[in-house]
Amino acid sequence: MKHQLVLVLDFGGQYNQLIARRVRECGVYCEVIRYTTPLEEIAAKQPAGIIFTGGPNSVYDENSPHIAKEIFEMGIPILGICYGCQLMAYTLGGTVTTCETSEYGKTETIYDKSSILFSGVEDLPEMAISWMSHTDYISKAPDGFIVTAHTENCPVAAMECPEKKLYAVQFHPEVNHTQHGLGMLGSFLKNVCGCTGDWTMESYAKTAIAQIRDKVGDGRVLLALSGGVDSSVCAALLSRAVGNKLTCIFVDHGFLRKNEGDEVEAAFAGQNINFIRVNAKAAFMEKLRGVSDPETKRKTIGEEFIRAFERESKKLGTVDFLAQGTIYPDVIESGSGDAAVIKSHHNVGGLPDYVDFKEIIEPLRLLFKDEVRQLGIELGLPEQLVWRQPFPGPGLAIRIIGEITDEKLEILQEADWIFREEIAKAGLDRSIHQYFAVLTNMRSVGVMGDGRTYDYTLALRGVTTTDFMTADFARIPYEVLEVVSARIVNEVSHINRVVYDVTTKPPATIEWE
Ligand code: XMP
Repeated sequence: MKHQLVLVLDFGGQYNQLIARRVRECGVYCEVIRYTTPLEEIAAKQPAGIIFTGGPNSVYDENSPHIAKEIFEMGIPILGICYGCQLMAYTLGGTVTTCETSEYGKTETIYDKSSILFSGVEDLPEMAISWMSHTDYISKAPDGFIVTAHTENCPVAAMECPEKKLYAVQFHPEVNHTQHGLGMLGSFLKNVCGCTGDWTMESYAKTAIAQIRDKVGDGRVLLALSGGVDSSVCAALLSRAVGNKLTCIFVDHGFLRKNEGDEVEAAFAGQNINFIRVNAKAAFMEKLRGVSDPETKRKTIGEEFIRAFERESKKLGTVDFLAQGTIYPDVIESGSGDAAVIKSHHNVGGLPDYVDFKEIIEPLRLLFKDEVRQLGIELGLPEQLVWRQPFPGPGLAIRIIGEITDEKLEILQEADWIFREEIAKAGLDRSIHQYFAVLTNMRSVGVMGDGRTYDYTLALRGVTTTDFMTADFARIPYEVLEVVSARIVNEVSHINRVVYDVTTKPPATIEWE
C-alpha cells in the first residue's frame, strides 16, 4: 500500500526532525530531504504537500540556501516555517528586513481566524502564544498574499496565498510552546493538502512483513540483537515475517544493566527463531584490563564486540541478509552539513562488511523512535522492553569512570537498579527520557555507625530531551532523590555519597564518558 507523502525540505534548522515527527503524529507519512533536491525528483515523489523548515541563515547571507522559484508553480501546497517563511516571501517578491530587536521565545500572536490554516484549529483564540526565534522579519508580504497573523514586533507572523496553496508562518508550530501548533500543522495537512491520515503502525507492520517475506524468500537472515529497543523491535518484526529463517546473535558483553541480559533472553529464546546468546564478559574484561581512557574503552569494546559477533556468525556460514535496526534519524542527512563528532558512538547496528552476507535489510529505516516503540507494542513485545530508555552500546563500561573491575560493575548495577526502581515507583519513568547512575572514581570520607568510611561517590543523572543532541537535567523531586540516596548508601556497599548532576547538554554530554 502506498501512503500519502509530505516532504519536509531541510534548510538546516534545529527543529527539522521535530517537524517530521509532528507530521507523522498527525497520521501522515513524511520524509526529510535536502533543499538542494532537484525539482524533478520532488515532483516524481508526488507529494501531497511540502514543508520548508527553518534555518540559521538570513536570506541575504552570501551562502544562504535558496530555492528555484518554480517550486511555487508546481501546484503542490507549501507551508514555510521561520526561515522557510522568509524564503517564500523573498523569492516571491516580498521584503525581508533585519529586526531592530530579534524576537525570541514565547510571543503573543494575533490570528486571523478566517485563514484555512487557523479556522480548522479547534479552540484557537484570536490571541495565543507562539514560539518565535528570528532576527529577520517580513516587512512586506509578496503580491497576492494576505497577512493572517501578526505580533507586536512582527507585522507578518503568518501569510498565505490560498489560490496557489502557499502558506507561511514566522513562528514554529512544531514546538510545544506554540499553543495549538500541532492543530495548525494538522489543518495544513488535512484542509490544504487533503491528507487523510493513512499512516498507522498497524498498516506499517502489515506492509513491512509482506515486503520482508517477499524479499527474503527462502534466504537466511542474521541480526545482531543488543537488547535495545531498535534491535528488539527489528527482531520481532523479522521473526513475524520469516520465523526460523532468522538467527539472532546476542553478544552479552557483561555491561548491561542488572537482569537485562536475562530479560532479552526471556523475550526471544524459545520463539520460532534461532536465538544465540554469547556470554562474552570474560573476554571483554580481559581486553579492558588497565584501560581507563574513555575513547580507548569505547574502541576496545567496539572491536571486541565485532570479534565476538564474527566468531559466532562464522559458524553459520554464508547468510543472505544482515539485518540492522537503523532508524530514520540515523538516515536523515542534515541540510546544513555534518555535525562535529563529539564521541565515537559504538553502535551494534554498525556491523562490518566482512561478515559473510549478500545484502543488508533495514526494516525500521523509515521510523522515528516513538514509532519504533508503537510498532513494538503492535507486535506484542513486553512493555518494559519497548519502553526501555536509550542505552549506549558500551553499556555500563562508560558509566564507570576509570578502570573497570568486577567489584565496580556490581556496585553500579545495584545502585542503578535502585535508582530505576524508585523512578518507576514515582511514575517518572516515561517523562525522564534517560536516567542512570555513574560510578565516579572519586572517594571521600564518610561516617557510618561509629566508624569512618572512605568510599565511592555515586552520581545520578536524569535528562529530558527531544533528540538527545541537547538536553536539560530532569527536575526530579527532592523527595524522590532523598529515597534513592538513602536506599543506595544503605543497600550498596562502598558508596557513601550520592550527588545529582545538574548540568545541561551542552556544555556537558549526557553520558560522563
Ligand atoms: P552523549 O553522552 O553523547 O549521549 O550526550 C547522547 C545519547 O547517545 C547515547 N550514547 C551512545 N549510544 N553508543 C550508543 O549506541 C554509544 O557509544 C553511545 N554513547 C552515548 C547516550 O546514552 C545518549 O542517549
